[in-house]
Amino acid sequence: MKKNKILSISECTNFKKKVSLYGIHLTLFLMPKNILIIGACGQIGTELTLALRKKYGSEHVIASDIREGNDDLMQSGPFEILDATNYDTLEEVIAYYDICEVYLMAAMLSATAEKFPMRAWNLNMNTLFNVLNLAKEKKINKIFWPSSIAVFGPNTPKEDTPQNTIMEPSTVYGISKQSGERWCEYYFNKFNVDVRSIRYPGLISWKTMPGGGTTDYAIEIYHKALSDGSYTCFLGEETKLPMMFMDDAIRATLQIMEAPEKDIKVRSSYNLAGMSFTPKEMAENIKAVMPSFKIEYAPDFRQDIADSWPSSIDDTPAKDDWGWKSEFNLEKTTEEMLGNLG
Ligand code: SER
Repeated sequence: MKKNKILSISECTNFKKKVSLYGIHLTLFLMPKNILIIGACGQIGTELTLALRKKYGSEHVIASDIREGNDDLMQSGPFEILDATNYDTLEEVIAYYDICEVYLMAAMLSATAEKFPMRAWNLNMNTLFNVLNLAKEKKINKIFWPSSIAVFGPNTPKEDTPQNTIMEPSTVYGISKQSGERWCEYYFNKFNVDVRSIRYPGLISWKTMPGGGTTDYAIEIYHKALSDGSYTCFLGEETKLPMMFMDDAIRATLQIMEAPEKDIKVRSSYNLAGMSFTPKEMAENIKAVMPSFKIEYAPDFRQDIADSWPSSIDDTPAKDDWGWKSEFNLEKTTEEMLGNLG
């Protein structure tokens, strides 16, 4: 670890504290909290780190991963190589940087997890237990842990999937996320651990490539449209899935973490919706701006995974409890993707 020890912080949860001294009311401005992002070099981690650094100051946001990330991430603030499956190393980094909040973004996604079930289970669950136990021991104050639409399964109602419904996930990734949700709620109920979570839909972004997901086609399609003018989709043309543009996902993540504790009424994970579309609708959307674009369909093993997931999500509790509202539809997403990748 580099010897740039950051000042110790005694108050982690607020920037401002109001106190009264001999009847005089004072507002104390406190040092910002220090934050650790685990899995900072991944698709979500990279953009989340940059957003948190912009908000809280680079020196207060420590990025970590098992490998180095892109230049934007590496040059924007402190970074540690960290294997979060190892409790002792994680504890050491948390003590060293006086970490109050952890965003646990490391995970093996759905398609890769089907190939390496035990590795996926170990990574997805052990990192979560390590972070939950550090919070139980009061070594950190607050956790963000992402869940996924993969917690739902073939018996779940497909359209407008409600917050509380039949789940029964049929993928390794979904089983790990569903179990994780149960453990988050358990640690909140038993040990008062402030853990907050969102069930992300498929996330579409241009800054960092995704890795090993079933919804990755919705990113590859833009890259291929620009490089080859055509794309062969690994899902069938009518496979409708819930999706979201990354800016919305990052905004939701910051919003749920900033919400007053009393407003977070779901301690497993919140449904979150952006948009829903099929590969065919996406291709038509691209054709509207690139008329020569061509698409073919060659569904592979990922079709079964996609078929087990919902088509659209009802996110009423997230809207009601902490004011969630999505901003990006498919047209706006295509404009952002082609504009930034082109
Ligand atoms: N995007 C993820 C995947 O496809 C779902 O959470 O695995």
